[in-house]
Amino acid sequence: MFVKCLLLFSFLCLHLQFSYGVTDTVVCYYASWAIYRPDKGEFHPESIDPTICTHINYAFLGIYPNGTLQMIDEWGDIEKGNFQEVEALKEINPNLKTIISVGGWNAGNAILSPIAASAEFRANLIASCLEYFETYGFNGLDIDWEYPEAKDKENFITLLREIKEAFQPGGYVLTIAVSAIPIDDAYDIPGMSENVDLINLMTYDFHIAGGGITGQNSPLYWGAADSAWQKEYENVNSTVVNWVNEGADPAKLTIGLAFYGHTFQLTDPAQHDLGSPVSDAGMSGPYTKGYGIMGYNEICELTGDWTRVFDDQQKVPYKYKDDQWIGYDDEESVALKVQYAKDNNLAGLMIWTVDMDDFLGLCGTKDGLLQTIKNNL
Ligand SMILES: *[C@@H]1O[C@H](CO)[C@@H](O)[C@H](O)[C@H]1NC(C)=O
Ligand SMILES: *[C@@H]1O[C@H](CO)[C@@H](O)[C@H](O)[C@H]1NC(C)=O
Repeated sequence: MFVKCLLLFSFLCLHLQFSYGVTDTVVCYYASWAIYRPDKGEFHPESIDPTICTHINYAFLGIYPNGTLQMIDEWGDIEKGNFQEVEALKEINPNLKTIISVGGWNAGNAILSPIAASAEFRANLIASCLEYFETYGFNGLDIDWEYPEAKDKENFITLLREIKEAFQPGGYVLTIAVSAIPIDDAYDIPGMSENVDLINLMTYDFHIAGGGITGQNSPLYWGAADSAWQKEYENVNSTVVNWVNEGADPAKLTIGLAFYGHTFQLTDPAQHDLGSPVSDAGMSGPYTKGYGIMGYNEICELTGDWTRVFDDQQKVPYKYKDDQWIGYDDEESVALKVQYAKDNNLAGLMIWTVDMDDFLGLCGTKDGLLQTIKNNL
């Protein structure tokens, strides 16, 4: 009897320990258009390491105005084998969750708003998801709504609750990606937290060239050049604190890691500290080609001779050469963010996007950022 009690007791302890504060989730967004990047930028899903990523969020699928999922790029998704390659990763890790992501910056507010508002369209979206899971093997849906407005606040929760109920029998996963700054009049944070499996915090793009001065893409803590408002809202730490204070379950939160940096063109090459004046965005990456953006793979390939400074206050590096400046993340800053997630008992990390890691090993270790996450979890 005593032994039995003891066993039961230790089981309970173990159970409690494991259901509280385990930081083990790595949500890897995959940009399905990475197959079209030129030269050394081309990346196919078969190159994702599914022993490190626990979830792959496939960005993006579209949605018709009636709620039904829409393939934006049937050639890439089907003919070129993207869907199939993602699914095949489960042969390496059978526990991998593959997730359809809808929304994103380009989709904007307009598409999701009327769907969330209509019982018929919500039902269409759910039916369409279940059909995709059946046909292609996906395990869930991610809603990346950028961004709901006050009129959408209740509808958003209704949408999430109905999806959650419909997904439960099949064990499907529902995640959302959210603005780092809690949008008070559009986000019912306790309601969101209650109805989803994971809330992916988009804790990046905090400083861009439009701000007129150099600044960090994804600082862990506030910096000296920040305004009072920025200190309270524009870094990873304040984001996590704000979301938890407003009712998010820490065990459902992931910190967003940017596998890219924002570039700046210095007004005066002699002024290259944080907060220095800039005239425009800096160079674009030759593969990702985004305005004022370079992937970590491109940073590794092209900035080997730039001067690197580690900003000890914000816990992220920046680099400069001549009139070019970039704020980004590397192995050192990623390791500190992983530690932060563990210290705060968060679910884990989210990556935007896994196809911009140093997958050719140009900085050193192949998949250096992903490996850093693995080594520090
Ligand atoms: C929604 O619209 C699309 C595109 O017109 C159509 O293919 C699909 O069948 C519609 N879905 C439903 C449930 O009516
Ligand atoms: C983290 O953020 C909270 C809320 O903004 C703040 O009170 C705290 O001082 C921050 N921690 C650090 C180390 O900056």
